[in-house]
Amino acid sequence: MAKKIQFGSRIGLIAATVGSAVGLGNIWRFPAEAQANGGAAFLLLYVACVFLLGIPVMVAEFALGRGTRSDAAGAFRILSQRSRWWITGALAILASYLILSFYMVVAGWTLEYFWQSLTGALYDIPEGASSDTASATFQHKMGEYITDSWRPLIATFAMIGINLFILMRGVRKGIEKMSNFMMPLLFLLLVAFACVAMTFPNASEGLAFFLKPDFSKITPTVAVNALGQAFFSLSLGMGILITYAGYFPKDTRLVKTAVTVSALDLLVAVLMGFIIFPAVMSFGLAGESLQGATLVFVTLPEVFAQLPASSLWSALFFLLLMVAALTSTISLGEVSVAFVQEHFKTTRRKACLWVLLPLFFLSSLCSLSQGPLSHISILGMNIFDFLDNMATNIMLPVAAILTCVFLGWATPRDFLKKQLENGGTIAAKSFPLILFIIRFAAPVLIALILMAKILG
Ligand code: PHE
Repeated sequence: MAKKIQFGSRIGLIAATVGSAVGLGNIWRFPAEAQANGGAAFLLLYVACVFLLGIPVMVAEFALGRGTRSDAAGAFRILSQRSRWWITGALAILASYLILSFYMVVAGWTLEYFWQSLTGALYDIPEGASSDTASATFQHKMGEYITDSWRPLIATFAMIGINLFILMRGVRKGIEKMSNFMMPLLFLLLVAFACVAMTFPNASEGLAFFLKPDFSKITPTVAVNALGQAFFSLSLGMGILITYAGYFPKDTRLVKTAVTVSALDLLVAVLMGFIIFPAVMSFGLAGESLQGATLVFVTLPEVFAQLPASSLWSALFFLLLMVAALTSTISLGEVSVAFVQEHFKTTRRKACLWVLLPLFFLSSLCSLSQGPLSHISILGMNIFDFLDNMATNIMLPVAAILTCVFLGWATPRDFLKKQLENGGTIAAKSFPLILFIIRFAAPVLIALILMAKILG
């Protein structure tokens, strides 16, 4: 086998993997889920899901990737020739590509809001407007923008262009270099925002809601939501971690890396809680639902509008959001690029073009489905929501279950053990526990979420 490209440093490898995990899921989905599911009760279950299930499944994906040094489908093919297991990888690749097509649209929105914050256009609100009017204004601005026929397309196309540029530069000069620069920036911005949020008048009430657990709020639905959020946030079941682990050096400690990545991803989610809950409690927005895009495109602008230097804070926040979205789109894109490059034995350049050019069409469809094409409905949803539901609620958990079953039951036990031991050079005390979770706990629990989602 030709020697495959590897990440240049441990920091770079962690930055890239954390970059994939940290995304819109941490920044707006997590606070929204926490608000809807009883605050601290949700946080507690979420932490449990990350450590008990998320980390072992992440280790499983790492082992598959590093052990085969192949793409997400190739990993299954190599380990189980003449079987159909490669379909699991293909499903993950397809899911990640569908997610990419609509994630790119939202990434475009973050770019537009960043731009509108810089120019100040976002805060062009009639003098002396009351807070109700401010809320209505931002709601209106968002609605008008995302349903427009061509404005969101410009930003989406710009994001596809940036992705193409970075992916074409390759794993080290593109993905790793970008992550090494962007992830520290992201953490710096988050800490700055968390510090500012602590100075808000009702910060402590907000924190109390987020941090004081009320165990009576823990129900099966909350548990299902926490597990779903953990898998989405850690980018599991999408072939991403298999693909990135294909670039890990042979001495990378897989368990340690999974713990580090998951802990940093969790830290970002918790920091977002430290920012959002004090902010909404302090500015009279606690009653607003944080669900969906309104949290970042309506509620937070309302907060910024009440701060001095609104445009500056707003620009910094949307920069943070853009960075989080970009590192995630890059990882989603890399899954398909690696697959095309490997499977069709082509150059990286060509693979990048094959993967990203169709997005100009697919992402346009997703974008237009918010406005001019909103009448096209599949199972009662517009194109955007349909793809989101299909990929994140169905394909992703199915791929995650099959990945666990494959590694737990269909590959020789030795394979995982050797990967955890780095070929016998380190001890792997966690092996029995990880194997147990991959064989039993994870597939059963993920199947439960899947059923809960399907049955509504
Ligand atoms: N894990 C990312 C997040 O938290 C989302 C993501 C989903 C990234 C799917 C890649 C693929 O937002």
